[in-house]
Amino acid sequence: MFWKTDQPHGLPRNPFKSCIIPRPIGWISTQDKNGGVNLAPYSYFNGVSDDPPMVMFASGSRDATNPKDTIANAEATGEFVCSMVSWDMRDVMNTTSAEVAPEIDEFKLAGIETAPSQLVKPPRVAGAPIHLECTYLQTFTLPPTSKGHGNAICVGRVIGIHIKDEFLKDGFIDVLKIRPVARLGYMDYTSVDGQFTMLRPTVDAAAD
Ligand SMILES: Cc1cc2nc3c(=O)[nH]c(=O)nc-3n(C[C@H](O)[C@H](O)[C@H](O)COP(=O)(O)O)c2cc1C
Repeated sequence: MFWKTDQPHGLPRNPFKSCIIPRPIGWISTQDKNGGVNLAPYSYFNGVSDDPPMVMFASGSRDATNPKDTIANAEATGEFVCSMVSWDMRDVMNTTSAEVAPEIDEFKLAGIETAPSQLVKPPRVAGAPIHLECTYLQTFTLPPTSKGHGNAICVGRVIGIHIKDEFLKDGFIDVLKIRPVARLGYMDYTSVDGQFTMLRPTVDAAAD
């Protein structure tokens, strides 16, 4: 099939999110200017550069006039932390996606333990295997939704990285032990439970 995206696709559900899979989940913690803590998952999330290390997440908005808390806090305070979602944290991650009032702390809502960050104020998800401490760089405003709600990409610089020692094997991240959870389309998810290696034709593996 083919459809122009400004026309009906004729399928029971919009397949777009299933066409870009799997997507990593940035489980993003922030604080507002008064120190109120916030946590939410974002799967329009990725690394965008490793030198310097940078990440992005794309946010819809809460409604026609208000942004989501994560991007509002990142812009207001200049800091955010991305925790990796491991298999054992999938349910609590989902709980933190509830669209609740800005003053609600989703760590408390979902019964998630916090760990202090080293370089930024927002706390980390204590049980997560990997955390990226970030400073806010820039917001790219995108075309709004068909309902007139805002869309934006927030880019941050990763200034500190935590990897739990138990997930390092011979100096390499043991991804199969972590079993990171990733987003598919619809209400579906996957997790990393296999991997394979391919050498690049012109790149020294030791340099990558
Ligand atoms: C796995 C998962 C991925 C999500 N990814 C996004 C996303 O990329 N962008 C977005 O705007 N909302 C996304 N959401 C919805 C937000 O998590 C939800 O709107 C949340 O309430 C936002 O919280 P905040 O206002 O505290 O930032 C996702 C939800 C789940 C469960």
